[in-house]
Amino acid sequence: MARLLHIDSSALSAGSVSKEIAETFRAAWAQAHPDGVVTYRDLGLTPVSPIAEADIRAAFIPAEQRTAEQAAAAARRDELISEVEQADAYLFTVPMYNWGVPATFKAWIDQIIQGGRTLTFDGQPPLGGRPATVILAYGGGYGPGTPREGWDFVQPYLETVLGKALGLDVIFIKAELTLAERNPAMADLIPKAKEIRSGAHAAADSHARAVAARIAA
Ligand SMILES: Cc1cc2nc3c(=O)[nH]c(=O)nc-3n(C[C@H](O)[C@H](O)[C@H](O)COP(=O)(O)O)c2cc1C
Repeated sequence: MARLLHIDSSALSAGSVSKEIAETFRAAWAQAHPDGVVTYRDLGLTPVSPIAEADIRAAFIPAEQRTAEQAAAAARRDELISEVEQADAYLFTVPMYNWGVPATFKAWIDQIIQGGRTLTFDGQPPLGGRPATVILAYGGGYGPGTPREGWDFVQPYLETVLGKALGLDVIFIKAELTLAERNPAMADLIPKAKEIRSGAHAAADSHARAVAARIAA
């Protein structure tokens, strides 16, 4: 049975571009795996706690010696990590907030990366090779030749942490210029923004089919 872990991180409950594109992915995925299991977390609605002292200490203390606070922290973290370990494929949606990833997504990353479990340094990452589709939504544009080229700390960060550190097989689908219709200064970019958005939906659909075909039903 195919198992997908879907993590959204937009703070918006409605009108989120990244969530809207994820719906296209999910529809194609559901067609390919009608009996599959999807584990879903909406970090905007239900954030996980930022990594705290009890989370860190608990990882280095035997279970029977943990304080109640450390035991609770370890249990919460174990639940998040287990969801990652049990998935065959991942769908992450990540908006750009102040040129980086939302704090909620960073908090989730800090919780699920644990040395010896999801992260190893032996060249054989435990999650190595699993497909991860990352849907990015940026209000502006950061491509080559744009005024803010080089300001994107979302995709390079995710390439490093998901791709290089965790060893996932990562594909990015990016919707840039999402603020074009709301920001009068970007009015002339509206046609380009629409083109990018529909291209992102098409990419989400075709990529979902391609990834789904790789995972046994
Ligand atoms: C708190 C916040 C910070 C943002 N910072 C940036 C930014 O630095 N650069 C940018 O291009 N867009 C920025 N935006 C715009 C979002 O990236 C854009 O609206 C995107 O579509 C959000 O994803 P969503 O539609 O899935 O919620 C910001 C939006 C918010 C709410």
